[in-house]
Amino acid sequence: MATTVLLCALACSGPDGTTAPATGAPPAATGSPGAPGIGDPDFPSDGNGGYDVERYRLEIDYDPGSRHLSGVTVIEAKAAQALSRFNLDLSGFTVGRVAVNGGPAAFERSGHELTVIPSGPLPSGAAFTVEVAYAGEPEPVRDSSNLGTYGFIPTKDGAFVTCEPNGARTWFPGNDHPADKARYEFEITVPAGLTALANGEMTDRPRTTGGKTVYRWREDHPMVTYLATMTLGRFELREGTTASGIKNLAAVDPRFRDSLDDLHTLSGKITDYWATVFGPYPFSSTGGVVDDFSAGYALENQTKPMYGGFDPGEDIIAHELAHQWFGNSLSIRRWKDLWLNEGFATYAEWLWSEHEGDATAEEIFRRRYEAGPDAAIWKYAPGRARPDDLFNASVYTRGGMTLHALRQRIGDQVFFELLKTWTAEHKYGYVTTEDFTALAERLSGKQLDALFDAWLFQERKPATW
Ligand code: ARG
Ligand code: ZN
Repeated sequence: MATTVLLCALACSGPDGTTAPATGAPPAATGSPGAPGIGDPDFPSDGNGGYDVERYRLEIDYDPGSRHLSGVTVIEAKAAQALSRFNLDLSGFTVGRVAVNGGPAAFERSGHELTVIPSGPLPSGAAFTVEVAYAGEPEPVRDSSNLGTYGFIPTKDGAFVTCEPNGARTWFPGNDHPADKARYEFEITVPAGLTALANGEMTDRPRTTGGKTVYRWREDHPMVTYLATMTLGRFELREGTTASGIKNLAAVDPRFRDSLDDLHTLSGKITDYWATVFGPYPFSSTGGVVDDFSAGYALENQTKPMYGGFDPGEDIIAHELAHQWFGNSLSIRRWKDLWLNEGFATYAEWLWSEHEGDATAEEIFRRRYEAGPDAAIWKYAPGRARPDDLFNASVYTRGGMTLHALRQRIGDQVFFELLKTWTAEHKYGYVTTEDFTALAERLSGKQLDALFDAWLFQERKPATW
């Protein structure tokens, strides 16, 4: 027995899985490389393994005239294993300098991967900082399937920045996958006369010297990379608070001047209403941005949804603000669970319609259900979003219908209690489809396997609900 204990003290794995070195011997563990992907089987090179980011400090100077961006990103992270090297995601740019814990570090680049090689291994559990200086002309992602153009998109007066699913790497180095949330600080420098709008709130008034203005913003709640933004350009702003006292900022490109008041009023009213249905608003401010760029979509950027080149109506504002709970506060770990974002935000549009005295969710559901048995949504199982067709209409519409089928089955009282319990139990956290179905069964006391299987996982039209 004593021998075992002694051997263990010398060589057994510690609680963190590292091997304890024998006294006096050089450390056995030199660390191993962090994985080049975070482990999403559908997006194997997105994000990275071996560490968790706690905070990004993004210092960015952008000139729309020359389209030149120069940036310094400081990442505060914690090693999840002993690391000999680790990756960040960054696409394009020239990297000038990398430092780890303030000392120079070597680096290599290959495709979207930036590999950082610290001068010595980082122990498991250690907090560390990595600083990357980079510069160049940002290039958005131009996707040939249904994602369109996303990431940092230069516009004539600035930039339109919408990054879902993996476009954050087009403007800063990071762990570009939703499974690693962090807090963000922004210091953005633009030519005087332009506005820079990032997530969260301004921490200082804009300061102009030598023809340039510096904006400072901070999002102090956990945020996934695809929701980070720094929209730049000429904007007209309207600030205020919602009736319940949440800060509310609307900003529109001058071409959408006529939308400003409605965007501000509706964003405030809808945020307050959702707080009564989904539980307390999870962030410190709300609002929205309309820029003069026809993206063909909107994106639920945290605290500041972005509307791409159109005057947003109530439906889409209701949708993007519902995402502040579903997607932003509660985030998916794997892209295949995307219906937990889009199905819920789509169902929120129907709840808003019902609340406003327009079509009820039941009427909207029936209209969709009557779509013929060959309608494309019946052939695509929304509970397993496909990497090559992530934003398929089924993920939205059939995802929303799943919630209505559930509501019919468990009744309004349990259904609305479920929504609030769901957002409370996983606030600022990560969720999976299994977490949701388990909670629905627990609160309703009903066996719901058949319902979820038919609605989420079968490639045919559910016969009943
Ligand atoms: N989450 C957005 C929405 O439902 C859609 C984002 C689409 N992204 C893209 N690259 N097309 O409002
Ligand atoms: Zn959406």
